[in-house]
Amino acid sequence: MKNIEEMSIDEVKAELAYLAQEIAKSDNAYYQNDDPYLSDAEYDRLKHRNTELEEKFPELVRQDSPSKRVGATVKSAFSKVSHRFPMLSLGDVFSFEEVADFVMSVKRYLNTAEEIPFMSEPKIDGLSFSARYENRQFVQGATRGDGIIGEDITENLKTLQQLPLKLPADAPDILEVRGEVYMSKADFLALNARQEKEHKKLFANPRNAAAGSLRQLDAKITAQRNLSIFAYTWGEVSERQWESQAEFFNHLQKWGFPTNPNNTLCQSFADIEQSFKKLMDIRASLPYDIDGVVYKVNSIALQERLGFLTRTPRWAIAHKFPAEQALTTIKDIRIQVGRTGALTPVADLEPINVGGVIVSHATLHNEDEIKRKDFRIGDTVVVQRAGDVIPQLVGVIKEKRPAEAKEFVFPTICPICGAHAIREEDEAVRRCTGGLSCPAQAKERLVHFVSRDAFDIVGLGDKIIEDFFAEGILQNPSDIFTLEKRNGGDDLFSSVSGLHLEKREGWGSKSVDNLFKSIQARRKISLPRFIYALGIRQVGIATARLIAQHYGKFRPFMDDMKNKETGGIVSIDGIGAAMATDMVEFFQEPHNLNIIEKLLQYVEVEEFVDNAKKDTPLSGKTVVFTGTLQQMTRNEAKAKALACGAKVSGSVSAKTDYVIVGADAGSKLKTAQELGVKILSEDEFLDMTK
Ligand code: IVH
Repeated sequence: MKNIEEMSIDEVKAELAYLAQEIAKSDNAYYQNDDPYLSDAEYDRLKHRNTELEEKFPELVRQDSPSKRVGATVKSAFSKVSHRFPMLSLGDVFSFEEVADFVMSVKRYLNTAEEIPFMSEPKIDGLSFSARYENRQFVQGATRGDGIIGEDITENLKTLQQLPLKLPADAPDILEVRGEVYMSKADFLALNARQEKEHKKLFANPRNAAAGSLRQLDAKITAQRNLSIFAYTWGEVSERQWESQAEFFNHLQKWGFPTNPNNTLCQSFADIEQSFKKLMDIRASLPYDIDGVVYKVNSIALQERLGFLTRTPRWAIAHKFPAEQALTTIKDIRIQVGRTGALTPVADLEPINVGGVIVSHATLHNEDEIKRKDFRIGDTVVVQRAGDVIPQLVGVIKEKRPAEAKEFVFPTICPICGAHAIREEDEAVRRCTGGLSCPAQAKERLVHFVSRDAFDIVGLGDKIIEDFFAEGILQNPSDIFTLEKRNGGDDLFSSVSGLHLEKREGWGSKSVDNLFKSIQARRKISLPRFIYALGIRQVGIATARLIAQHYGKFRPFMDDMKNKETGGIVSIDGIGAAMATDMVEFFQEPHNLNIIEKLLQYVEVEEFVDNAKKDTPLSGKTVVFTGTLQQMTRNEAKAKALACGAKVSGSVSAKTDYVIVGADAGSKLKTAQELGVKILSEDEFLDMTK
């Protein structure tokens, strides 16, 4: 390494370029592929050298400098940003008639009969951002928030490779560029595959994935996710150099912002119609989700004359696509059996492309749903994807029902193990009574056992468990702890040959080593995790923790349950008689006891030490979660609440202190409102856990 004092400017420039490239490559290998090729020390040395050179030559700091890319510190909350110009939303329409009305109203307002040019832009299904530049340097990034106040995501936006951090000399002194952050369909699928492998939360659709990835307090996580942007509008600007939306796009491109290649200037209503139809046609083949088309009056002078309604401009509108639907036929209906024995009917469909995703099956939920919607084998049905990857069956086209269409008879016997499947009064689901002698339940129980909040064994994904189960390699949880021993095996004196997992397709000695390490690490396990891992019906992590708190050790809990001593457990606030019955039943089953005893030969269950924080706003409070949380899984949220000394309950009552609502909250939110229970957003909840 050269002494800085002796270096020429060109040499410094060249070295900074090399460092930027090398560090980015290493970041990529580390974050994207989990496969670092530089040692930590080597990586730190490069970073250090970069800082050293930049400190000496601040004028040579590159736009893509590693010192700017990754958020260095982990923040505890986003600070708020007041938008100097509000970030507006758009009015929605769903038909050409309504678009025609909109165009008419624009003309009427402007008092003109002439054609007005409109810019037609795909409506990207992501989340909007605002990027502020002062003296051509990126200084602040914000989310839309409520349009008036957003969140400061400066560090997160800096990690997006497509966002320029420095603008060319001809850009205005002050400029806020706004647009959409999104995740491509391919990156979304890859992220979910990774999440699944690591037993982490799956995202419902690319938009949720983009939001979850951008709004990360630790910007390093954002950096690991492939997020993209399209720029399409502006906020504050010191000197507007453009007279139209089309000209603005030209400037954006010149300054290095990605703009959508399908933005089209429309001179007439016919052009608008054509642009919509074209986007509708190519929608499925686009690498990212769009949910409609935005039309904007092209001329800024006209936009200014038109002005705004309360929250939306008079000069723009969103023409939304209908939910993506397609027709296909039900080839068959089959039953899946879950961990707790629930029989779920699934329709096998003639594979069909619904908005770019091939759908070949869909859940029918339960037997009542099949009756209510009258689904029969052979029926033509409407399949829909409404933003989500999970398809729904909307209904049957009765006119297309063939004569041989067959009604589905819901089994009263488990199709996997042959045990009776019974449906309790006022339950929607029918359950197999076979317990662990039912292979389907045994397999699902293994999946649960290794899951993130249970034993958290990395490297045993669902598919692997399925294969291992089918091949007899894993039958019950304790088998996991003998894997390593069974893997080597074949010595001269042994008649059994080793499993040699490293020779399996897709495996290698490294992944096998990692798996064994992960298993070894779990030979000691906390009491709540252990209880949760057993997969007792109704016992989630919050309940497992309550039990742990009450008993402190595993054996006394097991003994009580074996002896049907429920007095202690029902005295715990939050555990009712029905739950206690499930627990007792679980411990009456000899097979379960057998599994537990075997497990205890290999694992040490730690005594429970209550280290919940005692002095948080949540201590002693009863909280209920409802709806889909965006920033963490439900289990993570529960764990956070518990760690703050809160009690987590599944239902809202007058005793509930707080209801934390995520997206699409349903009846619990309603009950909370009726009872006057305090409602918290996810952010407010997170603030209280600090
Ligand atoms: S323009 C006043 N253009 O749609 C201008 N918005 O419903 C306001 N969106 O919050 C936005 N693609 O998140 C505009 N080409 C596009 C867009 C777009 C997606 C989103 C944006 C906005 C929402 C409005």
